[in-house]
Amino acid sequence: MITMIAAVSTNGILGVDGKIPWMGKYSADMKRFKSLTSGGTVIMGTKTWHSIGGKPLPNRTNMIISASLNECDLPAGASIHNRPQRAMIASKYTDPTKNIWVIGGASIYLQSMSLVDYIDLTIIPEYVEAYHTHDIVRFPWINPTKFELESKTDGEQGLIHLKYKALDKIG
Ligand SMILES: NC(=O)c1ccc[n+]([C@@H]2O[C@H](COP(=O)([O-])OP(=O)(O)OC[C@H]3O[C@@H](n4cnc5c(N)ncnc54)[C@H](OP(=O)(O)O)[C@@H]3O)[C@@H](O)[C@H]2O)c1
Repeated sequence: MITMIAAVSTNGILGVDGKIPWMGKYSADMKRFKSLTSGGTVIMGTKTWHSIGGKPLPNRTNMIISASLNECDLPAGASIHNRPQRAMIASKYTDPTKNIWVIGGASIYLQSMSLVDYIDLTIIPEYVEAYHTHDIVRFPWINPTKFELESKTDGEQGLIHLKYKALDKIG
């Protein structure tokens, strides 16, 4: 199963200046992310890799999508791939039973839209204003002809969890 997992503000913002604006504030979201993704493969772009400190997330197979990074500069437990689809194939080849999680950022979410089975989107109860910068990234549009809302759950700390199911996956 391949799932895209993201958290967005009420106005659809994922990140500002290379960071998640509410980082550290919603422990329930962090706990949920860790519990869902543990034991699986996580796929991320270079900027997201840097935003997590350039260290692999423990207990997960970390795959980074990059044309600029060199695998020998990475710590053990992380590998480089040149497209999200290649990383998905590599994960399935190594262990077909492993769940695959696309964890961002915006560029990787956009490239993975036609490849995932589910989108797990958490709405953070905050409206993010970022007038000081142009470095703002938003979650891509979810095409209603490609995905249907499967569930909407109220979580802790005012979080809302939306789960979308792909109607007709290509990859
Ligand atoms: N709220 C959330 O749930 C969440 C989750 C994740 C990230 N974020 C935020 O999102 C922001 C980062 O998102 P982003 O879209 O700017 O960056 P990103 O997707 O994390 O990384 C983009 C980089 O990945 C590499 N890349 C992407 N597609 C590629 C391809 N097909 N082939 C080769 N390399 C490719 C490129 O780097 P190279 O130069 O190395 O090729 C590109 O510059 C940050 O603010 C982060 O905090 C938020």
